[in-house]
Amino acid sequence: MTAPAVRLHPAGPLESAVVAALQHVCFPEDPWDEASVATLTAPPAGFAVIALDMQDQPVGFVMARVAAEDAEILAIGVLPQARRGGVGRQLVEAAVAGSRDLGATALFLEVAEDNQAAWTLYKACGFFSVGRRPGYYKRPDGRVAALVLRRNLDGA
Ligand SMILES: CC(C)(COP(=O)(O)OP(=O)(O)OC[C@H]1O[C@@H](n2cnc3c(N)ncnc32)[C@H](O)[C@@H]1OP(=O)(O)O)[C@@H](O)C(=O)NCCC(=O)NCCS
Repeated sequence: MTAPAVRLHPAGPLESAVVAALQHVCFPEDPWDEASVATLTAPPAGFAVIALDMQDQPVGFVMARVAAEDAEILAIGVLPQARRGGVGRQLVEAAVAGSRDLGATALFLEVAEDNQAAWTLYKACGFFSVGRRPGYYKRPDGRVAALVLRRNLDGA
């Protein structure tokens, strides 16, 4: 597949508002404010990456944190109009690279069992299921389980 026309940009503390705005669009039911984003992505353990389109407009983001040898993707999202172009895959790989740089040997995340798009993306990026948390996410018509996914970062 042709690589999408985006540029990946490490987001510093001053760009927490941009990340929060993207998070708000991608997760309207669970928005995080700028201060929460800044705290969660603060160095040295946290980081965020923004995807910018050819007009330098932000179209996606990923946030991650590392604790000892384990890293976690806290959130990842691509604006609806920019989806299915490979941006999500690039952001996952940015989280992988950033986590490796911080010394992690495994990368974890949680995904709602009914989130087919995200689950398919993660599988394509080498994640596998290592656990299930029943009733973890709220839905208008009830609750849905979270799958805990892992990707090994040591080796290839
Ligand atoms: C999940 C999300 C980040 C994917 O971003 P994206 O830029 O569309 O992903 P990509 O274009 O890189 O997709 C890579 C692969 O993932 C899979 N995929 C992505 N979206 C999919 C969908 N809607 N249905 C089925 N498979 C999908 C496909 O295998 C795709 O490869 P292909 O397009 O060559 O078939 C995006 O849908 C999103 O922001 N969703 C809302 C927020 C969210 O759910 N975040 C994840 C929470 S855990």
